[in-house]
Amino acid sequence: MVHGRGEQVPVCLAEGQLSDRGSSLYVTWPDGHRSQYDWQWLRDRCFSPRARADREKQWKNKKQLWGADIAANLPTFDFPALLTDDRALYDFLYGLDTVGLVLVQNVPRHLGQVEKLANRVSFLKQNVYGAEIVVKSKPDDVRTSEADSTRHLEIHNDEPYYSYAPGVQLLHYIEQTKGEGGTSLLVDSFNAAYQLKEEDPEAFWLLTTFKIHFIHKKAKHKAHIRNICKIISLDDQGEVQRVNYMMIARDSIMDVPLDQVKPFHRALKAFNALLYHPENCLHLKMKAGEMYAVDNGRTLHGRTAFNPADGVRHLRGGYLDWDGVYSRMRVLKEDLGIQ
Ligand code: OGA
Ligand code: ZN
Repeated sequence: MVHGRGEQVPVCLAEGQLSDRGSSLYVTWPDGHRSQYDWQWLRDRCFSPRARADREKQWKNKKQLWGADIAANLPTFDFPALLTDDRALYDFLYGLDTVGLVLVQNVPRHLGQVEKLANRVSFLKQNVYGAEIVVKSKPDDVRTSEADSTRHLEIHNDEPYYSYAPGVQLLHYIEQTKGEGGTSLLVDSFNAAYQLKEEDPEAFWLLTTFKIHFIHKKAKHKAHIRNICKIISLDDQGEVQRVNYMMIARDSIMDVPLDQVKPFHRALKAFNALLYHPENCLHLKMKAGEMYAVDNGRTLHGRTAFNPADGVRHLRGGYLDWDGVYSRMRVLKEDLGIQ
């Protein structure tokens, strides 16, 4: 054990010599080879349980759980600033990571803005609908997506039928309905999942244990995409890691033992009730020229119905993967000297 800057660092050497000189540790190995190690470099690689736990925290920001009352404190950003100001971009990505929901204002009301912001971060993730998603109401016989109806959209995350579902969703409101409705519903599903764990442990156990199938099977897309997963996935520490929730894309195939089918449905209803609880579900009427970005594995979104007679409602959306977002955040953090 050697001591550097007041901390104990375990060092394994059969023989050899160590000397602590200021900011470095000098080692003369048994074969005579000499090495110099920066103390900080060693500390960053320390195997002690405390150092390992701290290191995990260092690379992972703590999630800030929220309910409908976040309306007053929603992290909000200016679109032109995001395109030019690296600090604004970092803060935007930090909000996306920790809160899972950020609002962007002053977005020009024409096409291509989602891609512009996506390219500032990394690049758009392509899927069966293309790279930039169009949401515009169309008659039932021509549309391929329920989002293109004028009906109520139940809260969901996008595309849970992909095993590599998009990490982040960007949604730009180019035109919003002039009438009632078309209001976004936004829910922190992690917050609701922890409430379920507290209030109804059996339901939490069922949704974190058994798998269901999400499916996208459409002749028009020549696609049969299927993801077999849990509704609530936990990490190895038992923390909620991802929620998959899109009831319209849930297959009736379920990987659930027969005697758990009814309890499973009961659990799903209990979770659904918490997601829609007025204290959890934020109602936000987006304005034309605004965009939101959500953590697509966490923040569920939906919208209320609207009247097609009340004018055009036109949205453009796109997706990013977290690897690209985290990479950008780490580079910005280093460049900007953020601790
Ligand atoms: C979607 C969606 C929300 C809206 O297109 O996936 O959820 O406000 N749209 O129309
Ligand atoms: Zn959606």
